[in-house]
Amino acid sequence: MKLNFSTVEWEENTTGVCLSQGKVRILDQTLLPWEINYKDIGTVEGIVGAINEMRIRGAPLIGVIGAYGVAIAAQKAKDVKEIKEAIERLEHTRPTAYNLFCGLTRMKKIVEVVSEFSLLKSCLLQEANKIKKEDEFLCEQIGKNGETLIPKNAQILTHCNAGALATCGIGTALAPIYIAKNRIKKIFVSETRPVLQGARLTAWELQQAEIPVTLICDSVRGVVIKEVDLCIVGADRIARNGDIANKIGTYTLAVLAKTHNIPFYVAAPSTTFDLSIESGEQIPIELRNPDEVRKIGNYEIAPKNIDIFNPSFDVTPNEYITGFITENGIQKPPFK
Ligand code: MRU
Repeated sequence: MKLNFSTVEWEENTTGVCLSQGKVRILDQTLLPWEINYKDIGTVEGIVGAINEMRIRGAPLIGVIGAYGVAIAAQKAKDVKEIKEAIERLEHTRPTAYNLFCGLTRMKKIVEVVSEFSLLKSCLLQEANKIKKEDEFLCEQIGKNGETLIPKNAQILTHCNAGALATCGIGTALAPIYIAKNRIKKIFVSETRPVLQGARLTAWELQQAEIPVTLICDSVRGVVIKEVDLCIVGADRIARNGDIANKIGTYTLAVLAKTHNIPFYVAAPSTTFDLSIESGEQIPIELRNPDEVRKIGNYEIAPKNIDIFNPSFDVTPNEYITGFITENGIQKPPFK
């Protein structure tokens, strides 16, 4: 499955004088679907900003860009302390996405084991490239395992964007859909207020891939749920007991699916599983800027100074989840 965009690429400096000296090229997701614009970032501040502003988003992709952030910091660092400070800054970007911490832990290990400072720069870049490559492979495996769940003429409901735009490969929730493309009758995509990842990103990438897609408001899910064969969503963090955090509105969808006896699957790579926590209660939930709710684009839709609650994710308890589509097959908790 070939897609006509790339979410993140390492760009080596063309002068070639200094090996591992370069920048990261990202597809700016805040401009989609109106503009396909790639942005070069060569500083850790730039990477931190791009993650916070959601120019680059989706748990697996945040994991990869976080790792590149460390590689970029190492290019200019005078000592190990500066690299460690950069890691700390990256750790404070998006707290729910476990893949970020999974990636940064790997980068920290490299900092610990490579004692020769002059080698550190290239070793960190190598590791970041490896994390990117692995993510691509994990998506492919999730796709192959998940496509077995998709019947002929399938109608599937997904929420937010857990597609190619959220990874370095063909996505997690959308990976089985890409592989079973010829069996898809229709994908319902809920718009995903407030940042509209469903409307702006999932609808766009499925349309690019010529997969039939119908966009609905989040509030329409109760009407279409009876028409779908299954729901597939991604995850930002999965606890040992199988509770998951995913984009706000996922829990509501899971309750709806259970009420109507519709299978509800979560697709995620091992890098999303936080085996240090027992349940969803321990998952930190990111609260985002109230302006995301107060406005649509630049247009204000609420009274000034109104109190706003804007959690980016919710927790779906394991009893609502039919199964987990992973690179190792369809799994059920408890996870070890
Ligand atoms: O806030 P976002 O856009 O980063 O949230 C994305 C999601 O919630 C995805 O479903 C999740 O990260 C899995 S992406 C494969």
